[in-house]
Amino acid sequence: MRTDTGQIFRLEDYRPSDYLIPTTSLDFRLSPDRTRVIAELAIERRKGVAGDAPLVLDGDGLALKRLEIDGRAAAANAYEATPERLTISKPPKATRFRLTIETELGPATNLALMGLYRSNNVYCTQCEAEGFRRITYFLDRPDILSVYTVRIEADAKEAPLLLSNGNPRETGKLEGGRHYAVWHDPFPKPSYLFALVAGDLGRIGDTFVTASGRSVELGIYVEHGKEARATYAMDALKRSMRWDEEKFGREYDLEVFNIVAVSDFNMGAMENKGLNIFNDKYVLADSDTATDADFANIEAIIAHEYFHNWTGNRITCRDWFQLCLKEGLTVYRDHEFSADQRSRAVKRIAEVRTLKSHQFPEDQGPLAHPVRPRRYREINNFYTATVYEKGAEVVRMIHTILGAEIFRKGMDLYFERHDGEAATVEDFLKVFEDVSGSDLSQFALWYHQAGTPNLAITTSHDAKNSEFLVEIEQSVPPTPAESRKRLMHIPLAFALVGKNGGDIAYTGVEGATVENGVIHLRKRRHNIRFSGVPGRPVLSLNRGFSAPVTLSVEQRPEDQYFLARHDSDTFSRWQAFNTLLTDALVAAFRRIRGGKEPEFASDIGDLAGVFAADSTLEPAYRALALTLPGEADIAREIGANIDPDAIFTARELLARSIADTNVGRFGELYASLRNEGAFSPDAASAGRRALRNVLLDYLSLKPGDVTLAEGQFADATNMTDRATALAILAHRQPGSEPAKAALASFERRYASDPLVMDKWFQIQASVPGAATVEAVKALTRHPAFSMNNPNRVRSLIGTFSSANQTAFHRPDGAGYDFFVEAVLKADGDNPQLAARLATALRSWRSLEPGRQGKAREALLAIANAKDLSTDLRDIVERTLA
Ligand code: TRP
Ligand code: ZN
Repeated sequence: MRTDTGQIFRLEDYRPSDYLIPTTSLDFRLSPDRTRVIAELAIERRKGVAGDAPLVLDGDGLALKRLEIDGRAAAANAYEATPERLTISKPPKATRFRLTIETELGPATNLALMGLYRSNNVYCTQCEAEGFRRITYFLDRPDILSVYTVRIEADAKEAPLLLSNGNPRETGKLEGGRHYAVWHDPFPKPSYLFALVAGDLGRIGDTFVTASGRSVELGIYVEHGKEARATYAMDALKRSMRWDEEKFGREYDLEVFNIVAVSDFNMGAMENKGLNIFNDKYVLADSDTATDADFANIEAIIAHEYFHNWTGNRITCRDWFQLCLKEGLTVYRDHEFSADQRSRAVKRIAEVRTLKSHQFPEDQGPLAHPVRPRRYREINNFYTATVYEKGAEVVRMIHTILGAEIFRKGMDLYFERHDGEAATVEDFLKVFEDVSGSDLSQFALWYHQAGTPNLAITTSHDAKNSEFLVEIEQSVPPTPAESRKRLMHIPLAFALVGKNGGDIAYTGVEGATVENGVIHLRKRRHNIRFSGVPGRPVLSLNRGFSAPVTLSVEQRPEDQYFLARHDSDTFSRWQAFNTLLTDALVAAFRRIRGGKEPEFASDIGDLAGVFAADSTLEPAYRALALTLPGEADIAREIGANIDPDAIFTARELLARSIADTNVGRFGELYASLRNEGAFSPDAASAGRRALRNVLLDYLSLKPGDVTLAEGQFADATNMTDRATALAILAHRQPGSEPAKAALASFERRYASDPLVMDKWFQIQASVPGAATVEAVKALTRHPAFSMNNPNRVRSLIGTFSSANQTAFHRPDGAGYDFFVEAVLKADGDNPQLAARLATALRSWRSLEPGRQGKAREALLAIANAKDLSTDLRDIVERTLA
C-alpha cells in the first residue's frame, strides 16, 4: 500500500536539524533476499538545542530489527519505529551519544531502483535524492554531512568485488565462503552520495597523476567480456580530470576513483563520492555497437559526474531546493568541457537545440517551475531540463556578464569559501558579487522566476543622422503560481553586421548599457540609439544564445537570409537559417490547415545547398544546419491548436523541396564523404559521418527511393551508419520488404546485446503514422523487452510517446490508451520511471480540440487509478491543473 500524504515541502520552511551525525559506520551482510545493515551513528545535539528535543530519523519502507542507544538495547517505550520513521522521543541527556540500528532489506525485489537493489545479480545503490532512507534510518537530508566507514560482507563467489566510497582500508576472508572489505571516506558527505557495489564484474584500470603529483588509481567495472567497450569512457575520464585542473584549478582528492556500469538505472549516472555509478549505456561503446551520439554522451556524462566531485560533493546543497546549485553548475562545466574537446560552435548549437526542445516546452507548460523551485511534493520530479539546462544557462550568463577572468575569480572564491559545506544559490551569487563589486539582485530572478522571457524588437535606420535605432521590450509570460513577473536583467549579445558580413563599429550608444558586444536589458523597454552608423546594418541578435529567451523580431526575411549567408559569427548563421526554416514550416502548417498547398521560397533550398557545399565550414556544423527543426519544435512555435499530422506533412514537404533543389549536389557530396581508414570516434570523423547521414536522409525522400540506404545498411562498418540507414528504411517504407529485411538482420545480429536492441526498439517506436501504436504494443511482448528495465522502457515507450508525434497523438486516442496502460504498469514497480514517462503529455493543452479532449481523458484515467505513487500523482495533477 502506498501512503501519499500529499505533503508539500517549502523552501521557507527550511531549518537546520536539531542533531548532527559526525560519523557513520555501516556494516552490510549482503544476501539477495535478506541483507542485514548495521548502522552505527555518532549523534551530536546541535549547540543551543534543548536536551529533550526528540530525534526523528527518516525511513522508507524499513523494517527495524534492533536498536541500541550507547550500546544498550533501547527500551520498548523509548522509541517508535514505523517503515517511514524512527522516533526517539527522549534521547540521552548527553550532547553526544551512539545509536546502533539494524535493518533488513530485500535487494532482489527492489524494482524501484532506489536504495539497495540488484541489477544483473550485482548489488548496487542509488541514494539521490532520498534513497538512503530505504537502507537505514537516518537524517536523510543533504545538509547532514558525515564521515563514513563501510564494511561489506558477501559471498566471495557471488560477489568477488566489494566497493564503496573513499579509499580501500582492509579486506579479508571469512568462514562459509564469505569475505569482506572495509572502505573509509575521509570527506564528510551527505547520505545521498553514499554508494556500495558488490558483484562479479570485469575491470579496466589506469592511473592518473594529478597536477600536484599524487597518483590516483582509476577503475571502470563492467560486465565480464565488455571490458574493451569501456576504453573510451576511461579516456574521457582522464581528459576530464586534466581539464578540471587546467580550467578550474580543481584536483582529485582520493587515492582511487571507480566507475561501475549497471544495466538497470533510473537516470544517466550518479556522482557518489569516489564511486560513480553509471547507466551502462553511458559507459559502453565501440564502433560496432555505439553511434557517434553515444560516444559524445559518454564523454559528456563521464565528465559531468567527475566534475560533481567539486561542484556537488566537496560543496553540496543545503536542501533539495538548491538542486541547481550542483546540477546547473555542473552541466555548465560539462558543456564547456565538450566545447573544448570538440568544436565550440557545433557544441553550442547542439546545446541550444536541446534547451529549446526540452526546456522551453517545460517552461511554457503546466510543469513550469523556477530554476530554484520554492515548493515540491516529490523531489524526484525536479530533476528537470529547467534545473539542469536552464540552470547551466544561468551560470553561462554570469560568465557573460562578468567576463572570463572575474568569473574564474568568483569560482575560486566559491571553492575556497564553501569547501566542505552545504551551500545555497545565495552563497553562489554572493561570491560573484564579492569579486566583481556588482549587484546581482536583479539577475538573481533567473533563479527565482519561471517562464521564458520574450523580447519584442523593432529596428529603424536614420540615414540623415547616421543612427541605428533598436527598440526592445521584455515580457515574461505568466506560469503556474506566478502570474505577475518582475523585470529581468537579460544579457543580449549582438552585432551590427555590415555589407561584407563583418561586424561594423559605431561611435556611440545611448539607451542601455552596452559592453563587449552585449546589451544589458534591465527595464521593460529600451530605446537604444547607435550613432555613427551611416549605412543600414543588419542586426545579429542573441549571438551564442547569450540569454535563454524567445525573440519576436520584426525583421525582413532578406535580413535573415543575409545573416544566414554572411554573418561572421557561425552560431548566428545557424540561428538565422534555423529561424528561416522554422518560419517556413509554420507558414506551411497554416496553409495545410487552411486546406492549401504549402509553398516554399526557392531561396531556402538554395541556402541549404550553400551550407552543404561550404567546405570552409566543419562537416558537423553543415549537418546541423541541414537538420530541420523537429516536429515538437514546430509545434512549440505554433503554440496552439496543434495538429501533428499537418506538422509532419509540412516538414516532409519542406525536406522534399530542399532535396529537389539539391539532388545532384547532395548525391555527389554523399559519395565523396565515404569512410576511409579505421574507425575513430573523434569529433571530426563523427562530423563527416553526420553530414553524410543527413544527406542520405534527403536522398531517400522520394517515394520508393531507398536503394542508397539499402546499400549503406549492407556496407556499414560502424553503428552510426548502420542505425541511420536502418531508421531511413524503417521510416520511409514501413512494412516494406527492404524495411523488414533490414530490421530482421539487425535483430539477428544484436539479439543478445540489450543496449543495441534499444536502438532497434527506438527506430520502430519512431516510425511515423498510425500503425506504430499496434507495432509498439506488439514489441512490448518481444523477448528483449522488459517493463522493469528503464532503458528498454524509455527506448520503446518513451520514444513512442515523446518522439513520435503522429503515432502517439493518433486522433482516435489509441496512442493515449496504450500510454495510460504502460505508465500505470511502470508505476507499480518504478514510480520515477512512470512519472518521467507521464511528462510526455505536458503540452496537451496546445493540441487541437479533438486530441486535447482525448489527452485530458488519458490524464484523468491515470489520476483516477488506484494506488498511484507520489511521483506520478504529482506530475499528473500538476499537468491537469
Ligand atoms: N545527480 C545525478 C546527476 O545529475 C542524477 C540523479 C539524480 C540520479 N537522482 C538520480 C541518477 C536517481 C539516478 C537515479 O548526475
Ligand atoms: Zn548531475
